[in-house]
Amino acid sequence: MPNNKKSCKQMEKLCTALNNNEYYQKFDAYKNKVLALGNDSLEKTIAIAVALCLVCAVLVSFAAVALKPLQIDNKAADMKQNILDVAGLLEEGADINSAFAEKIEAKIVDLETGDYVENIDVAEFDQRKAAKDPAQSVAIPKDKDIAHIRVKSKYAKVFLVKEGDVTKSIILPMHGYGLWSTLYGFLSLDPDGQTVQSINFYDQAETPGLGGEVVNPNWRALWKGKKVYAETDQPSSEKGLITEADIGEPALSLIKGVVDKTKPGSQYQVDGLAGATLTSTGVTNLVRYWMSDEGFAPYLKKVRTVKQVKS
Ligand SMILES: Cc1cc2nc3c(=O)[nH]c(=O)nc-3n(C[C@H](O)[C@H](O)[C@H](O)COP(=O)(O)O)c2cc1C
Repeated sequence: MPNNKKSCKQMEKLCTALNNNEYYQKFDAYKNKVLALGNDSLEKTIAIAVALCLVCAVLVSFAAVALKPLQIDNKAADMKQNILDVAGLLEEGADINSAFAEKIEAKIVDLETGDYVENIDVAEFDQRKAAKDPAQSVAIPKDKDIAHIRVKSKYAKVFLVKEGDVTKSIILPMHGYGLWSTLYGFLSLDPDGQTVQSINFYDQAETPGLGGEVVNPNWRALWKGKKVYAETDQPSSEKGLITEADIGEPALSLIKGVVDKTKPGSQYQVDGLAGATLTSTGVTNLVRYWMSDEGFAPYLKKVRTVKQVKS
């Protein structure tokens, strides 16, 4: 009760201060004058419209500010869902946050050296924001910018699926221009840093039914088992081995039509999207860019599981 009395007194004080305020008095006088005008007066119509706009603007701003933390949480949960999806670990009904925390380890990579960076907070790091920060980004030379992104962050956030000490998947972020939009996605690789597990594009604005088919699960399924880098003529992988010497330049591409699996080189080919050659070319280019020395090749060189060929 004493607290209530105190707040009533404070409210009274506030009201008195407001009533004594010169601007408020002017506003009050104007308000009374407007309200006294006839409903078909132009001044009253404009004043009511302006007042309504102000009230709506305040409400919208308030909602935007109040809902911001929720939006940030939803965005983070959506990203975790996409990563679990490309890792093949998305289970219906499972709690996204705990599944992610349990199964996925995020790391920051210096793209130039391929080393992990320990002095950047992984949880806080946002690669898209970093790409816009001159201190954390580099311009891409025109002749190397096959993904048409102009600048790249010096660091990238990668995700590892581990079972104990054993890496099961290496998940790499990639983006590049399609026909209408920049496509953002993830590529999940086997620990050999060479064999594709899955791909997903979580943000793109290509035409639904044409370039937008990049999200079609049937098309995504075609990527499983494809090889990213050209291998030597007689790859050691045929003997169940992969050596560094087997790994050449990025070779994966989308082709026009359907891949003939009996033909040599089909392990580097994925069916192009019907009626969407430009988006398909964009996907080829962005995958090749991020798998090149400009992207994750230096990192993959350091982390891929290389087996020694017995002499
Ligand atoms: C309304 C409209 C939307 C289109 N959207 C895409 C698209 O998202 N991606 C794409 O590669 N081509 C799109 N195209 C087709 C391209 O303009 C171009 O014709 C096509 O990429 C050529 O591919 P094709 O040789 O497979 O037909 C669209 C065309 C139209 C008329």
